[in-house]
This record gives sequence, C-alpha cells and structure tokens, in this order.
Amino acid sequence: MKIRNVLITGASGKIGRNLIPELLKAGYHVRAIQFDEPVDFKGVEIIEGDVRDPGLARKALKDMDAVIHLANCKENREVFMETNIKGTFYLLDEARNCRHIKQFIQAGSDARAGIYYYPHPYPIDETYPHSAYPGYYAFSKVLEEVMCEQYFIQYQLPITILRFSWVHDEDDFLAHITLSEPNFGVPVWCEIAKTQDQKKYFEKGIDGVAKLIHPGGKPGIRHIVGIKDTVEGVLLALGNHSAIGQAFAITGPSPFSYDFAAGYVSERLNLPIIEFEYEGFYDFTHNISKARSILGYNPQYDITRIIDDAIEFRKLGKKRTPIKYIG
Ligand SMILES: NC(=O)c1ccc[n+]([C@@H]2O[C@H](COP(=O)([O-])OP(=O)(O)OC[C@H]3O[C@@H](n4cnc5c(N)ncnc54)[C@H](O)[C@@H]3O)[C@@H](O)[C@H]2O)c1
Repeated sequence: MKIRNVLITGASGKIGRNLIPELLKAGYHVRAIQFDEPVDFKGVEIIEGDVRDPGLARKALKDMDAVIHLANCKENREVFMETNIKGTFYLLDEARNCRHIKQFIQAGSDARAGIYYYPHPYPIDETYPHSAYPGYYAFSKVLEEVMCEQYFIQYQLPITILRFSWVHDEDDFLAHITLSEPNFGVPVWCEIAKTQDQKKYFEKGIDGVAKLIHPGGKPGIRHIVGIKDTVEGVLLALGNHSAIGQAFAITGPSPFSYDFAAGYVSERLNLPIIEFEYEGFYDFTHNISKARSILGYNPQYDITRIIDDAIEFRKLGKKRTPIKYIG
C-alpha cells in the first residue's frame, strides 16, 4: 500500500507532537489540523480547524492517502459527543465518500476494556469485549471504535484501530508515582490516604513514592506504554496492508508491579515508600502478540526505562507540558 500524504488530527497533543517529527523523517507529507494550540513543525502543512465543524473533513482529507485521527477531548460532558463522536463520524464519512483514503487509523484506548476498574482475564487481548470504565472519555473510546468497525463492515473503509495503553512521556511516571505535585493519573494518592501516617505526607508536603497494594498486601500490577513505543506502533501500522480491518493493543513490552516500580524510584531518588491499599484496583495486563506478529511491533520501554527517562527529564530541568487530563 503506497501512502505519502497523511492527515493528522490532534497534532498538538501528547501523541501527535511526538509522532509528527517521525512521520516527516520517514518522508511522509504531513497535513495537520491545528485547533487550540500551535502545531509548530517545519515542513508540515497546517489547516486551522475544529473537528466539530461538519465542513472541515472535506477540506482536510482532500488529496490525502491516510488519516491518523488523534483529536479527542477527555472527561467533558458538554463537548465529548460533538468532538469525539460527531468529529470522528464526519471524518469517517468523508473518508468513505472521497474514495482515496487507503487507511484510516483511529486512536483507540485500553479504557475501552475498563483497565483496572473491573476484574479481567490476565492478560487480555484484542478479542476482549468492550467494557469501558465509568465516564464520558472511556464511553467515547468504545463509540469511536464501533463507528470505525461499522464503516469497515458497511463500506469496507480501510480502518485500523490502535488501542494505546496509558502513554508516558517526559516525567509522567514520576508525576504519577511520587506524592508531590504535579499529580498525574489515577488513583490519586491523597484521595485514598486513610491512615494518619499516609495523610501526614500531604499535610506536611513531604515527598514519597506510592506503592499500590491490594487488601492483603499483594502489589498492584498494570500495563502502560512509553511515548516512543507508542509512536513506533503508529509508524508500523501506517501503510501496512495486514493492519486493515484490525485492532491492536499498543503497549509496553511487559506489565509492571508497583512493588518493583516503587522500589526502583525510591532507590534512585532516595525517597520513602508509602503503601496505599486500594480495594478498587484490579490488576490488568495486555497480550501484545498480535501487534508483534502482524506489525512487527517490538516495544523497548519497560518500566525501568520509563523511570530512567523520567528522571533524566527532571535532571535536565526540562519544562513539563501542562496536564489536561489526569487519568
Ligand atoms: N495519552 C494517553 O495516555 C492515551 C492513551 C490511550 C489512548 N489515547 C488516545 O490517543 C489520542 C491522542 O491522545 P493524546 O493524549 O495525544 O491527546 P491530547 O489530550 O494530548 O491532545 C488532544 C488533541 O486533540 C485536539 N483537539 C481537541 N478538541 C479538538 C477539536 N474540537 N477539533 C480539533 N482538534 C481537537 C487538541 O488540540 C490536541 O491536539 C486520543 O484519541 C486519546 O483518546 C491516549
């Protein structure tokens, strides 16, 4: 499949801003939709627009071979239907009508399977049914996928769904696992602090590393993905004939245990470990053999590397991109 011209939505977002330079390096002509933040890459064709605008899709898809649809809003009841559902619908519908789109890549999420909110088989794979966790964001990830699946079934639109796990860039993992601000991800440690010993860290502003445990003491296990592996997953899927009509879990090489992660961060940053027992957390891991065998996906960033990169990011005094959505 020959793809040269690629439309990317959500270009200024976490995945988009890391993906664009790699698309350019690989020789694609990139057209990006710029919405609320600047998309500042030399060599990218910019179209200002809002995916909620029914007229945008025709202009944006003109002469394109592929779409990478990343634009999305998170937990916002007022706009998620218009942005995530109608915005995706306008693009899908134009892609089927214009007849020159060879691949439509939709950003999916493991939120569609409920991640830690429900007990799961261990690991889960792409055949696991949709079962979003509560909230508008996860709900929209299911509806977007169902629309894509139907456009494939009803109109043979060549869709590919990449179900990313929680994507980690910059010092995201430290923002998650340490107690000090900024706070990133769920659970939010100060909200599940029950004992006086746990609470004192927040009251006195002392930093520490959270170790999530289940009732009884077993450490929590989850599966996340580094930004470079995420980008690699998209590049491998783009233009890949075998990816058409398929969904893939795009996540890290292995899950991590909070026991190991907290121990490693504690050792490297010389911080105390604080246990947080949380009965609402179920372990989850993904089977990535489908992405490995069909896409040749070979993720490199396990938890040690994600932590090392996060520490390096802080050491270099780099400025963290503001968090728009905590989960
Ligand atoms: N970041 C993660 O951990 C993660 C995990 C799984 C799946 N995903 C999915 O990947 C995709 C990209 O995620 P991200 O984290 O890069 O997103 P982000 O929140 O960092 O960025 C969202 C992007 O969407 C654009 N956007 C929002 N509303 C728009 C509108 N009305 N019109 C046009 N553009 C609009 C924003 O300008 C921004 O560029 C999303 O579909 C998300 O659900 C992300």
